[in-house]
Amino acid sequence: MRKMSYPYQITSFEAYQEAYQKSIEDPAAFWESVAEHFVWKQRWTSKDQVLNWNFTDPNIEWFKGAKLNITENCLDRHLAERGNQPAIIWEPNSPDEPHRIITYKKLHEKVCSFAQVLKNNGVHKGDRVCIYMGMIPELAIAVLACARIGAIHSVVFGGFSAQSIADRLEDAKAEFIITCDGAFRGAKDIPLKAVIDEALIGNKIVKRVIVCTRTHTPVSMIKGRDVWWEDEMKQVEERGNLFIEAESMDAEDPLFILYTSGSTGKPKGVVHSTAGYMIYTTYTFVNVFQYQPNQIHFCTADIGWITGHSYIVYGPLSAGATSLLFEGVPTFPDAGRFWDIVDKYKVNILYTAPTAIRSLMGFGLGPLQGKDLSSLKVLGTVGEPINEEAWHWYDEHVGKKKCPIVDTWWQTETGGCLISNMAGITPAKPSWATLPMPGVQLLLVDEKGEEIKAAADETISGNLCIKAPWPSILRTTYGDHERCRTNYFATYPGLYFTGDGALRDKDGNYRITGRVDDVLNVSGHRIGTAEVENAINMHAGVVESAVVGFPHEVKGQGIYAYVIYQGSQAQDSHGSGDLVRKDILQTVTRIIGAIAKPDKIQFVSGLPKTRSGKIMRRILRKIAEGETENLGDTSTLLDPGVVDEIKRGRR
Ligand code: PRX
Repeated sequence: MRKMSYPYQITSFEAYQEAYQKSIEDPAAFWESVAEHFVWKQRWTSKDQVLNWNFTDPNIEWFKGAKLNITENCLDRHLAERGNQPAIIWEPNSPDEPHRIITYKKLHEKVCSFAQVLKNNGVHKGDRVCIYMGMIPELAIAVLACARIGAIHSVVFGGFSAQSIADRLEDAKAEFIITCDGAFRGAKDIPLKAVIDEALIGNKIVKRVIVCTRTHTPVSMIKGRDVWWEDEMKQVEERGNLFIEAESMDAEDPLFILYTSGSTGKPKGVVHSTAGYMIYTTYTFVNVFQYQPNQIHFCTADIGWITGHSYIVYGPLSAGATSLLFEGVPTFPDAGRFWDIVDKYKVNILYTAPTAIRSLMGFGLGPLQGKDLSSLKVLGTVGEPINEEAWHWYDEHVGKKKCPIVDTWWQTETGGCLISNMAGITPAKPSWATLPMPGVQLLLVDEKGEEIKAAADETISGNLCIKAPWPSILRTTYGDHERCRTNYFATYPGLYFTGDGALRDKDGNYRITGRVDDVLNVSGHRIGTAEVENAINMHAGVVESAVVGFPHEVKGQGIYAYVIYQGSQAQDSHGSGDLVRKDILQTVTRIIGAIAKPDKIQFVSGLPKTRSGKIMRRILRKIAEGETENLGDTSTLLDPGVVDEIKRGRR
């Protein structure tokens, strides 16, 4: 039995089972009892208000009509009891630079001041603010300041290209940008403001760009449009101690947009609303990691992804936790960086991605030597399936077999963890995400959408769907509700379809087997094959391309591109296929960002297509995986000869 530090903290397996049961029998009553432990400006007045939904439109409302501000929950409510406790510990990219500790009191002040800066610059409730910054405390401050005044933030990961930002700005009709001069990432220095400048060429909507100083890289500042963060803050702070009343938001008002890739088209803006997101991320933070007050939680994700939103910023701060924010990368200046940080701050919870674990495994045990990891109590993973080898390495060499490992399965669209063991409370099973959180009603279906029922003792496999809404389910995709419906709620009517395949064992544990759609998971980053193909096809000389994933030792999945280039061969003016390959990589970097660069490019004279012109990716996937014999039925191919050529040219 663990200590119950939060009224809704689950402290035994029986309590989990009981909570789960209640959450299914009466979801409204269950979440109402959790919601009571948050700060509201105006509570819901009847139980009917707690949950209204259908998955047809879809339309999902939790606590609609009740009023709150998430920053009062993340900041104000902690001031009396833990004003001097660190809210954020910031570890810079270089260990030679001093770290920063920001208490709840300080963070509250900074968020209020920056909220005033936003107001001074014309930002209003409901406006969209694009945030493109490195991992510095000002990023968390910017996010919270938007929430304070009810502006909708759209954080874009610092690795995305100018073109990607331009697309996102356009889609969200964002009028405001918050950025930095540059960002440090390992040995690199990324010129963020220059990327923004490029993204803004031809943009007529953006009115103001607020630039925070980090790298002292020279930047161009356009009169009337660009202002410095520091100047704006100074103006506000000189006026003395500042408090900004938090805007009253409806429970269902949008909190943020986060763009993510799907199997078709451009990335879509997943919209999360205020109350449900807050309640669910806090609840899962406390229960999955079994957080105890004063512990130090280190989530290594970037705030540019959902993991950073939910488990660096909102979940931990709403729970009054100390959240460690790390600017750098696991291998800089050496592969002992994580272990140094754990040792330096006596980190209690470490939450990272399988890809980081696999990459660190590659450096052997040397970097762990002499590092005191005894403060660790709980380890976590997220983003992709964890292979057993990596799981055991993490368990033995990092957790010293004393720390439960939580394997948390979830998505940008789900807002918080949906499947995971609870540390030390519910059993772990290597490479299995295990059991659903309270409120999460899972089922596995076949291709036709029929539920797959298991006989006793049987492990079954199917497409993972969800029957009913949990509080932090996405509400829409920005500006295009129909896309939300067709993407998630139309494949199997009446169900939310995750896009993942899964196994379920006799005890009800789930193991995620990976995406069943055309979405890749490269180093835990979600990338649509169509998106990469579109980028490749923009390269002059490329006629057509097809992109598939293949197993990659460190990244989980690598990107394999088959490219038809100017007829047949890549003998362009450079005279070398390799140079063309590099040019194509350059184009992908320009259009999407370096994270989407293919690992392998094979030039082909044709692609295996059916008579109706559909590319048979199944065949391409098998060849990329190294399987050249059992390619399955190829009789429907227009030109079966092309397959032999592709097999011969495999890279
Ligand atoms: O395929 C699943 C995989 O990551 C996808 C969601 O990606 P994204 O929206 O970028 O969010 C990642 C961080 C929450 C899922 O559809 N995935 C995520 N966590 C796991 C996982 N696959 C297996 N095990 C996990 N623990």
